[in-house]
Amino acid sequence: MDFKITLKNVRKNFSRLLVFDSVNFELTIGSSLAIAGKNGSGKSTLVKIIAGLLSPSAGEVIYQIDGKKIDKLDWFKYIGFVAPYLQLYDEFTGYENLEILARIRGLKNYKNKIEEVLKRVNLYARRDDLVRGYSSGMKQRLKYACALLHEPIVLILDEPTSNLDAEGVEMVWKIAQEQKKKGILIVATNEAEELQMCEEVINLDELKLKSREQIVK
Ligand SMILES: Nc1ncnc2c1ncn2[C@@H]1O[C@H](COP(=O)(O)OP(=O)(O)O)[C@@H](O)[C@H]1O
Ligand SMILES: [Mg+2]
Repeated sequence: MDFKITLKNVRKNFSRLLVFDSVNFELTIGSSLAIAGKNGSGKSTLVKIIAGLLSPSAGEVIYQIDGKKIDKLDWFKYIGFVAPYLQLYDEFTGYENLEILARIRGLKNYKNKIEEVLKRVNLYARRDDLVRGYSSGMKQRLKYACALLHEPIVLILDEPTSNLDAEGVEMVWKIAQEQKKKGILIVATNEAEELQMCEEVINLDELKLKSREQIVK
């Protein structure tokens, strides 16, 4: 299968604030892209646009399978997303969070899959505890379980190692390596070391300088 994400001249502004302009790239199976930049440079905004959670102000994002465009409403089927601003259901257990998600995604025979991802993120022993009682690192691990449940072609990680201990960081690097073998990996981070997770880097600070020159008329 041929899978491709294309960004064409993507711009985002929040009213008068220009976040970035003219973002162009193409990602296919096996590609990985790190998004670098200072706080407020637009990393989270860009990953949200790539995932279809935000619309660009100009330009377009295209998802294609074997040359055929995928409807934006269906993008979520192909995406796993880990980010600080994504919410878990605090009043449910870790297992139940994954079960809810499995049903939303229409996964069949998901019990084994849920157990597998819980073991992968090392939360299996705590699967029946309420998420409310999880530490922030445990919540971050559960987000990985949620993102990997449907074995997404596209894995998007925003601040991938936030709240994680050394073992959790190692887990993330392993997940990143595996994702690059079979799919597309996108990582937004301001940690220089984490840029190494990916083969390509886009730096929004530099982009922004360029686009500012372009926009001042
Ligand atoms: N919903 C919004 N409304 C207005 N401004 C926003 C909104 N979301 C983000 N911004 C602004 O866009 C810029 C980029 O934010 P963000 O993408 O979160 O940066 P980063 O993730 O690189 O720290 C910041 O200046 C931020 O204040
Ligand atoms: Mg951010």
